[in-house]
Formats: sequence, structure tokens, C-alpha cells
Amino acid sequence: MAGGAPSSPETWDAFFSDFYLRAYAADEREGEAEAQALAAARLAACPEGGELLDVPCGFGRHSVALARAGYRVTGVDRSAVLLEEARRRAGGERWPKLVTADYRELPFPDASFDAAVNLFSSLGYLGDEEDTRALVEIGRVLRPGARLVVELLHRDWLVRGFREQDWRLLGEGRLLLEQRTFDPAAGVAQTTQTLIDGGGERESRTFTVRVYTATELVAMLTRAGFAEVRCYGGLEGVPFGVDTRLVAVAISP
Ligand SMILES: C[S@@+](CC[C@H](N)C(=O)[O-])C[C@H]1O[C@@H](n2cnc3c(N)ncnc32)[C@H](O)[C@@H]1O
Repeated sequence: MAGGAPSSPETWDAFFSDFYLRAYAADEREGEAEAQALAAARLAACPEGGELLDVPCGFGRHSVALARAGYRVTGVDRSAVLLEEARRRAGGERWPKLVTADYRELPFPDASFDAAVNLFSSLGYLGDEEDTRALVEIGRVLRPGARLVVELLHRDWLVRGFREQDWRLLGEGRLLLEQRTFDPAAGVAQTTQTLIDGGGERESRTFTVRVYTATELVAMLTRAGFAEVRCYGGLEGVPFGVDTRLVAVAISP
């Protein structure tokens, strides 16, 4: 059983580091992030060339694609290591702007953005209360009536297809192993990821994350002041179901 609370910010900072880059950035499928980013911007109804917030932006895979498509993108993340990689990918262009911040305290005035995206299971690290605080903060920096798109792995999906162990082959003969437990009372999943490089050297990280149901996410967005929350099963707007990802689109206060 996983413990009842998500990992501490220090644990997340140690995970969203060089370890995360080696596990995720080196293994991207060509064009996938660009297609996701453009679909998310469309779902967020961001006007052409509009001011778009990518929060959190990680190593910039969506921010850079969106900036190339002409949006004035600001990417925000807590991880200095991932932002450094995002800056490398942005190649000194004017957009995206890349900002180091915690998403509970965004360094922007009220009503700064035309739309916001929160992609690839980027909530659940802080628990119900602090995750709601992050949503309130995103709502604050959105213009009234602007949309937020949240894309997450949800609890029904996790439970239905639960696998205690999994592995994924990365490039250059590297392997990523995952061992998982789930605490259904707390709605918290614990994962140990072990990265094994081509030479057999291994490194592990363990973290616990709150995994929300669609019902819980809609309630959180509503508590955070958003209205008209709609759920979809993907960024292309397909119907939501137990076996799909969860995409919530919400209108800011
Ligand atoms: C799974 S990654 C996804 C990043 C990006 N959306 C993507 O799709 O590549 C989650 C990100 O959340 C960031 N993060 C975690 N806690 C945060 C916080 N409190 N404030 C801002 N960023 C945070 C991490 O640094 C990491 O880059």
C-alpha cells in the first residue's frame, strides 16, 4: 500500500531533474508533443497569436512547439534543470518565455493570459488542498472567460488496468522499470522507477502522487472558481471514459 500523502516538494525536485530528462526527454516520439500542444491550444480556444500559459512546461516540449505555431507562450516550471533543457530547445528565440516559479505563486498580474494548458499528469503532486491552490492561481492569471485545459491520467483508468510492474525500453539500450502500489482509501499511487543504462548501472526514485477521479477534478476546478467544466477522453475532444485519459476544459472566473 502506498502512504496516504503525496511526496514532499523536495522529493519531486529530486525526480524532476536529470533523472526525469534521462527517462522522458531522450525518448520522445517525433511530432507527438507538437500534435498534443496544438490540439490543446485549439481545445483551450486560444486565439491565433494569443498569450498562452503552459503550466508546468517541464523541458519545454509543448511550449516550444506552440511558440513555433505563433502563440505568445509563457512556460512556467519549478525545475531549474528542466527549464535549462527548455531554453536549449527554444534556441534563443523571443518565444516561449520561460519562467522559474511554483504554480501556486505565479509571478504575473491578474488576467494576463488568453488560455492555459496543464498537460501530462501535472497535478496530484501536492494533494487536494495545494493542487486546488495551484488551480486558483492559474484562474487568477487567466482573463475572465478564458479556458484552462487539464490533461491527466485518472483513477478509474489506473485501477481498471492496474499493473504492479511494468517496463519500457528507451533509446540506447536503456530500460525503465516501474513498480507500483495504490492506496484506494487515500487515492494515492506509489511508484518506484528504476533506470538501467546500457552498461547495467541503475538508479531509482520513489514517489507518491494523488490520482484524481474525473468527479474529483471537476469538483476541484469548481472550488477553484472555474465554471462549465467539461470532460473529454483526449485532446482531440473524443468522449471521456474509464479507458481514456482525462481532459478537463474549464472557463476561468
Ligand atoms: C510530468 S511533468 C510534465 C511537464 C510538461 N507539462 C510536459 O508535458 O512535458 C510535471 C512537471 O511539473 C513540474 N512541477 C511539479 N511541481 C510543481 C510546482 N509545485 N510548481 C511548478 N511546477 C511543478 C515538474 O517540475 C515537471 O516539470
